[in-house]
Amino acid sequence: MSIKTILEQRFAAAMLKAGIDASCPPAIARSKQPRFGDFQANGMMGAAKKMQSPPRELAAQVIEQLELEGIAGKTEIAGPGFINIFLEPAFLNSQLATLPGGLQAAAPGSRQELIVVDYSAPNLAKEMHVGHLRSTIIGDVLARVLEFQGYEVLRQNHMGDWGTQFGMLIAELERIEDAENMVLSDLETFYQRSKTHFDNDPEFAAKAREYVVRLQSGDQHCVSLWQKFIDVSVDHSQDIYDALGVTLTREHIKPESAYNDMLADTVAKLEQRGIAVDDNGAKVVFLDELANKDGKPSAVIIQKSGGGFLYSTTDIAALDFRCNTLGAKRLMYFIDARQSLHMKQLFAIGRKAGMVPDGVSLEHHAFGTMMGKDGKPFKTRTGGTVKLANLLSEAVERAAELLSQRDSELSEQQRQEVARKVGIGAIKYADLSITRTNDYVFDWDAMLSFEGNTAPYLQYAYTRIRSVFRKADCASADISALRIVEASEHELGLLLLQFPEIIDQLAADAFPHVLCTYLYELASAFMTFYEACPILKDDVDSDTRASRMALCELSGQVLQRGLDLLGIEVMEYM
Ligand code: ARG
Repeated sequence: MSIKTILEQRFAAAMLKAGIDASCPPAIARSKQPRFGDFQANGMMGAAKKMQSPPRELAAQVIEQLELEGIAGKTEIAGPGFINIFLEPAFLNSQLATLPGGLQAAAPGSRQELIVVDYSAPNLAKEMHVGHLRSTIIGDVLARVLEFQGYEVLRQNHMGDWGTQFGMLIAELERIEDAENMVLSDLETFYQRSKTHFDNDPEFAAKAREYVVRLQSGDQHCVSLWQKFIDVSVDHSQDIYDALGVTLTREHIKPESAYNDMLADTVAKLEQRGIAVDDNGAKVVFLDELANKDGKPSAVIIQKSGGGFLYSTTDIAALDFRCNTLGAKRLMYFIDARQSLHMKQLFAIGRKAGMVPDGVSLEHHAFGTMMGKDGKPFKTRTGGTVKLANLLSEAVERAAELLSQRDSELSEQQRQEVARKVGIGAIKYADLSITRTNDYVFDWDAMLSFEGNTAPYLQYAYTRIRSVFRKADCASADISALRIVEASEHELGLLLLQFPEIIDQLAADAFPHVLCTYLYELASAFMTFYEACPILKDDVDSDTRASRMALCELSGQVLQRGLDLLGIEVMEYM
């Protein structure tokens, strides 16, 4: 249990005894300055208002009822009625001693709820580009965090493998098919070539259109060419996932095509339930709840007049499948904010159609766009889309270049490995550390800096900690030796204890920047402690040394675990 929760419980009990209405929260928060103690209870003013009594008097009555023995050595009333809480060092020591348990992943499935995390989901017609980065990185953090907490997590990679473009790609593939050992090493060129043919050659275009229909109705020839293309494209995505260090594998792919056989049923279900209606031969759902300001309902086409199904039809089928076949209790979608309307429509249809059992949570976790330093969406110098493969190798090259400017005793091979971790970590962290819903500016120099709120800074802090252990010639330290004495130790200890709370918050709201900000504060607090409190100097007595080593140990463990949940690797040396 976190300190905050313990204090909340103790205060709630005392407030009740002091005759305060149970609906008044104690409002426990970390104090902003050490002179206000470690925590504050800010709820007395609100309670006083409700009880119509003077807040400071009420605060005094609550303090009288408080049982904080062994927890806080001192409480005091401040300002208009805040209660400042000064924790007992011995209490901190004992809490910190139990922290390592909370840094281990909970047993798989120890929380029964199944959570579906829908993320990455590139369209397979083209190579992965920067537009896929945010969903892939952010979604992966949530999958990791929820799994860490013991939930059963099902990653669902809703890849786009079924759109109209595939007719064109099959037709193109057919042209080069004779050459049996076809190479699709450059998906992008292949796509462009096929698009050019489609735009300029009417015969080709007609064939491409015919092939989409044939593909969707299961024609052998088309399906086998399509499959060939999909295999190459999936291999390419998997290479990117591996390079990025995200946990997606082939088994998580549940592409659009996988729902093809359910679409007719989905439409029929919506018609039977009176939700979809015929509109000039097309099947449409009209949603009053999403009407525009003139009262015109939002219209969602689920089947075209020619019989074709759409992106939304597939998503409705997938929602139904996830809720009713898989039995998921929480569905989390990591998709660009530009699809917000689509997601609102999807959720409204699912609920209206009774596809979503009570208590199931449907969540669209939207994110903003990755911008260039010029304030426009991030592009190559010539204005093209930036391929992820190129972006990732550039990150590693740039990191290698920076590392080569520092003195280090790393071998060439070690340096390559460190450069990989730093480069990839920097890209991921730059994205994760910004409030998800905002756009963010992609800036190589800022993200690769060893100062400030960056991956390299945190990785560097970790290497500092490890170097203490190398100098002390031991692998780890005994946590029970910990005795908080100095102010910087106290501050570091309090921050360390906040870790479980931060993880709970991240799991609930899906904002990874909360964990980034926390780790940055933690690393900074560690650096302050490290400057202020000598560890290995000759004049440090052995108890103090053991206690400080224990703080190093905990700091290293929390930093490593936190970065691991963000999908970022650490290293022993830099
Ligand atoms: N493939 C889509 C795109 O690139 C994203 C799919 C997101 N997931 C979903 N269930 N709609 O825009």
